[in-house]
Amino acid sequence: MIDIHTHLLPDFDDGPANLDETREMLELAEKDGTRAIVITPHILDYGDYERQDEIFEKFEQVKEVARKDGRKLRLYLGGEIYLLPDIQPVYPFSTLNNNGKTILFEFSMREIPEFAPNKIFDWIMEGYQPILAHPERFLPILKNPRYAFKFAQMGVGLQINAGSVVGVFGEKIRRLAFSLIEHRMAHIVASDGHNTNSRSISLKEARQRVEERFGKKVAWVLFEENPRRAVEGEPLLREDPIPFEDYSQKPSRWDLIKRRLGLGKKEE
Ligand SMILES: [Fe+2]
Repeated sequence: MIDIHTHLLPDFDDGPANLDETREMLELAEKDGTRAIVITPHILDYGDYERQDEIFEKFEQVKEVARKDGRKLRLYLGGEIYLLPDIQPVYPFSTLNNNGKTILFEFSMREIPEFAPNKIFDWIMEGYQPILAHPERFLPILKNPRYAFKFAQMGVGLQINAGSVVGVFGEKIRRLAFSLIEHRMAHIVASDGHNTNSRSISLKEARQRVEERFGKKVAWVLFEENPRRAVEGEPLLREDPIPFEDYSQKPSRWDLIKRRLGLGKKEE
């Protein structure tokens, strides 16, 4: 598996407190079956853009301990970019693995900024592939999942958190995560791992849950193929998203059984 969203720089953002915790996270990820990781520190404001040297220095430290510990994991650098009106993706950590294509971004959990749709559309027109981090955790999308449909339709990639799939953030978020996959609006699952306890870097359990419900092919796309494409700057595999309205009108399995048995309303 390839994990495109992690916080692994020691004592940089709200990720691991020190290098020892980083090492434990790397060990867990490798045992879990992850073979490549993009480290995506929070880039929240203009001050964080000025910490470029610190980002590179800490990334080198992580690579060095991984090498010393004999890890086979491949490590890349990127950023989780907080959407600001005038920010341009011109920094070496603005795109995953500095591929000049894939931007992992987020905005406020509480509201979608008014400028967001235009800004994201501009990025797409300029040839970038924006990927929205954990849409299932945003309040406006929880209230109205049709926003997720609009983003998916625009060409945005939607990245679901593994923790959301296994229920770490509660039942409502878990259900929305599954619903986004079911409606073909989820393109990638990543850990968004922050530490060794509450915000794990583990992907394995989430993959099992996705496989049980949607089958091996969907799990392969979400955990392997699209993450690989995101790192390498290739277009993501995507299907037309199913609007929530249409989906709600689709007959359930029980409706189909009733129809077959001639029960209930007859169709005109
Ligand atoms: Fe994150």
